Amino acid sequence: MAATAVMSAAAMSAQTPVYLDSSRPLEERVEDALSRMTTQEKLDIIHAQSKFSSRGVPRLGLPDLWTDDGPHGVRPDVLWDEWEQAGQTNDSCVAFPALTCLAATWNPEVARLYGRSLGEEARYRGKDVMLGPGVNIYRTPLNGRNFEYMGEDPFLASEMVVPYVQGLQSCGVAACVKHFALNNNEVNRHTTNVILDDRTLYEIYLPAFKAAVQKGGAWSIMGAYNLYGDEHLCHNGRMLNDILKKEWGFDGAVISDWGGTHDTRQAIANGLDLEFGSWTDGLANGASNAYDNYHLANPYRALIASGEVGTAELDDKARRVLRLMMRTAMDYSKGAGSMCSEAHYAAARRIGDEGIVLLRNERSVLPVVPRKGGRILVVGENAVKMMTVGGGSSSLKAQREVSPLEGIRAAAAKYGMDVEWVRGYVGDVTGEYNGVVTGQDLNDSRTPSELISEAVSCASGADYVIFVGGLNKSPGQDCEDADRTGLGLPYGQDDVIGALARATRNLVVVNVSGNAVAMPWVRDVQAIVQAWFLGSEAGNSIADVIFGEVNPSGKLPFSFPVRLADNGAHALGAYPGVKRQDSDITDLEYAEGLLVGYRWHDTKKVKPLFAFGHGLSYTAFSFGKATADRNEIGQNGTVTFTVPVTNIGDRAGAEVVQLYISDPKCSVSRPAKELKGFAKVYLEPGETRDVKIIIDREALSYFDADRHEWIAEPGDFIASVGPASDNIKSTVKFRLK
Ligand code: GLC
Repeated sequence: MAATAVMSAAAMSAQTPVYLDSSRPLEERVEDALSRMTTQEKLDIIHAQSKFSSRGVPRLGLPDLWTDDGPHGVRPDVLWDEWEQAGQTNDSCVAFPALTCLAATWNPEVARLYGRSLGEEARYRGKDVMLGPGVNIYRTPLNGRNFEYMGEDPFLASEMVVPYVQGLQSCGVAACVKHFALNNNEVNRHTTNVILDDRTLYEIYLPAFKAAVQKGGAWSIMGAYNLYGDEHLCHNGRMLNDILKKEWGFDGAVISDWGGTHDTRQAIANGLDLEFGSWTDGLANGASNAYDNYHLANPYRALIASGEVGTAELDDKARRVLRLMMRTAMDYSKGAGSMCSEAHYAAARRIGDEGIVLLRNERSVLPVVPRKGGRILVVGENAVKMMTVGGGSSSLKAQREVSPLEGIRAAAAKYGMDVEWVRGYVGDVTGEYNGVVTGQDLNDSRTPSELISEAVSCASGADYVIFVGGLNKSPGQDCEDADRTGLGLPYGQDDVIGALARATRNLVVVNVSGNAVAMPWVRDVQAIVQAWFLGSEAGNSIADVIFGEVNPSGKLPFSFPVRLADNGAHALGAYPGVKRQDSDITDLEYAEGLLVGYRWHDTKKVKPLFAFGHGLSYTAFSFGKATADRNEIGQNGTVTFTVPVTNIGDRAGAEVVQLYISDPKCSVSRPAKELKGFAKVYLEPGETRDVKIIIDREALSYFDADRHEWIAEPGDFIASVGPASDNIKSTVKFRLK
């Protein structure tokens, strides 16, 4: 065999510069790269060069970084410096269910599957940073972007965001957890200055971000648009330097929201690392490259040149961006990913199947009992309207989207049942966002009364009437940059539902939304299914549950109040805030403090329409008495709770055992109870499983703002265990020494 000059690994590595040698420790590579870069090159990599990309260092072979939305799928490519479509033909994606649906699965392994599937799609599309997931807490049911987040409870959001981040980043694609922090409504999102006490900040609004960073190992974080302490969150000293980087030890990059950077000196000093989307007016101002006008570009260089600022912050920013590059674009070990694979469609369907929540099922009207020759009437615009287009930056160009009607039709055909569809109501007939068009013509000039009488007359004689309505990601109906103005369903849907309830005894309402809605007809409807914005497999997941292919196991990640005033923020008028005189700032005080969601309902004894953690099944479960392995623990001890759960029904199913902690006697006031553990268990008919949940002092602690530390105060605690926050089966008392 011809002698080939096989270079030894040592010789090879001697030739490969440290920063390019992936066998070397990350920090060594970062320092080596930094030592080779000029000041201009360091400035080049800390701001955008196009709408969604930032520059590398071509001289050193350091790659550009490509970001893309969003949390539910990989957004189609836009033109270099535009929001409008680039018109590619190879950038359709799988649209996964919205994150409220993921949260509703209460299944961390599904979250990992979600993150990994999205990571594979992003990797294949050459994206290094996915701009998601969002974990802003659900404080008001009016917030336009709740559908992109993981509900009202910090523990549930923490448990679900960690595996999502790990799954995503296992593909060499960075998560960019957003919007850090306190971005809990869309109205006045650029000018709202949030005011709240430290205890509420640390106990409610920070935990999911902290978990994403410390347990999930998130490689980037996105600053929010709003203000806190009168400083914009994209360059907020306390939030980014003190809390995120110093207290939590975050070593990744803080990326601004698009247009969230307002002040050069604050951007330099207050922890912003990568500036995107600043509204320099594009190329219109004739600058050679408007991106050079970004705060972290020429203005920054001028301040360095004048000696007003040094380069310590610049080196820190550059290090963080270099880490981001080496963890993503420069990590060639993570493969090429995959797009629109059957595995990804199966993942989307599984997330939907496990996240759909059966809210009500009188007389077990669901699942459908097939009858050859039977007829199902489907009513409503949401049965046919595409939902993957719209809603703001999370809008997608899905390769396919199975509508509820298509899914129900396909399932019914298997049982020889006919399906008829009538409009029921007219909502939003537009079908375009950001240059992506649905191609649907939903125009209908008939009046509401004509549509209702058509639906009512078709309902008579039908085996089942399935109304598919809800919200639709139009502005004001679960959409970015706009909040809803009320809790009720839009477009006169309540009238249609009321009329149908008088026309049939088998009425099923499927509510497609990312938010709670008012249900004045709740007692008149036999079954209610909370179906989220489910993405590409929407119709198949809805049909899977309605026809019983899947036994629903979803649990609500947020409360459904009966009326808006039953929500803490609205009960106290703490929304949308008070506009300052002679300023565009709106001050918004979170007056309800810790009492967000079920914390308000339980503590103030305000009964919700449907409670946090609520969700029915087609089978039934019985809970044995919960027991603890000890009745007293020290500050470093743990308690293991054991709960025997039995499937006493006739079909397999899953139950979510939820564990809430109460601290009845404490030197500070605390919510009535707080979620501190859960476990999803799958049981065959007749099967019993001992479900175990372990907690430690962290689960017992409150945040003492004066001492700035977590305190687990000795004394009695109560653990409450059940399948929902308003359905506690047993309690266990124990002591903390
Ligand atoms: C948007 C959103 C943010 C998104 C970014 C890029 O305004 O606030 O979530 O990732 O800009 O589209």
